[in-house]
Amino acid sequence: MKIAVFAGDGIGPEIMHEALRVLDALALPDVTLMEGYVGGAGYRKLGHPLHADTIRIAHEADAILFGAVGDFECDNLERHLRPEQAILGLRRELTLFANLRPATMFAGLEEMSALRPEVAGKIDMLIVRELNGDVYFGEKGIRTLDDGRRQGWDLMSYAEDEVRRIAHVAFRAAQGRKGRLCSVDKSNVLETFQLWRDVMIEVGAEYPDVALSHMYVDNAAMQLVRDPGQFDVIVTGNMFGDILSDQASMCVGSIGLLASAALGETQTQYGTKGLFEPIHGSAPDIAGQGKANPMAMILSLAIMLRHSFGLEAEAVRIEAAVAQALADGIRGGDLGGTAGTAEIGDAVLARL
Ligand code: NAI
Ligand code: MG
Repeated sequence: MKIAVFAGDGIGPEIMHEALRVLDALALPDVTLMEGYVGGAGYRKLGHPLHADTIRIAHEADAILFGAVGDFECDNLERHLRPEQAILGLRRELTLFANLRPATMFAGLEEMSALRPEVAGKIDMLIVRELNGDVYFGEKGIRTLDDGRRQGWDLMSYAEDEVRRIAHVAFRAAQGRKGRLCSVDKSNVLETFQLWRDVMIEVGAEYPDVALSHMYVDNAAMQLVRDPGQFDVIVTGNMFGDILSDQASMCVGSIGLLASAALGETQTQYGTKGLFEPIHGSAPDIAGQGKANPMAMILSLAIMLRHSFGLEAEAVRIEAAVAQALADGIRGGDLGGTAGTAEIGDAVLARL
């Protein structure tokens, strides 16, 4: 198991430290950690947020554990040297087109949700967001029209193979859960998403055991706060997924709890090289103070073991240990508590 460890900057190294303690405690055979410097750490050490040597490590590794990047002291650098280029560059470089973001309510945390506890308590969903296409990666610019007015423009497009590969990821995910897939689009207005819907239906024919439904994105935004318990798996494009997955994560309670996977290939369930990271950023406001909640990072490790190495039992053990720590009242600052990074790590290790 060759694991690239890219802790990044800000709270990244602090939370990564705890995740690696958990990995160590599992005492898995044949683990090789390949450390790399990304984001602000990459810029300081190697002169670039995503140095060629770091990309080489990413290619060599079987999976990538990623902390966070976003060092504010680098904000005045040119765009290509900013820390965030590390994560964007890795997604592109490795064709990580499928972003899996589970959002599940942990027992006892319903009060932390922005929603009413009885509504939040039912949340158990997975958002599958396409990560390599859509309007984010189309041609774009600001041009001057003949009459002198300036016009900003961004081209939205999806080729059918791009939709097909994310569809397969989503259908397979639904097979492993409650068997319900909701495809979120805007096919009433956008041709791109008419094709999206057509391809979803086509691919759906290969998965008779999954119930496919369709929802327009504006309604989906409403349903996510009205009755999030209705969703099992949601699949959607890059931009809609960006917005809806942030929204869904906040329905659960804290940003310090949510993990994600960015995956490449579709055809094999295991053995796919993925990048696993918390959904939060590098939290410069609390960096270096031992205050960050490492749970999202630890849960990202669990998802990595499951997806990249087929270690389901180990993944479940980690997830259960985190859930038990929360049920026992261990609370970081993000959850209104006082437990620090190491203390939370200790609590998870003890329950593991
Ligand atoms: P952020 O997620 O870093 O922080 C938002 C708020 O949540 C802050 O108050 C922070 O203290 C808190 N928070 C975040 N993670 C926490 C944790 N594990 N435990 C306790 N509290 C936590 O988002 P923000 O402030 O918008 O961005 C900071 C930097 O991170 C920016 O430069 C941004 O571009 C970058 N960023 C990087 C991402 C990545 O590496 N994948 C994702 C999102 C943002
Ligand atoms: Mg976002």
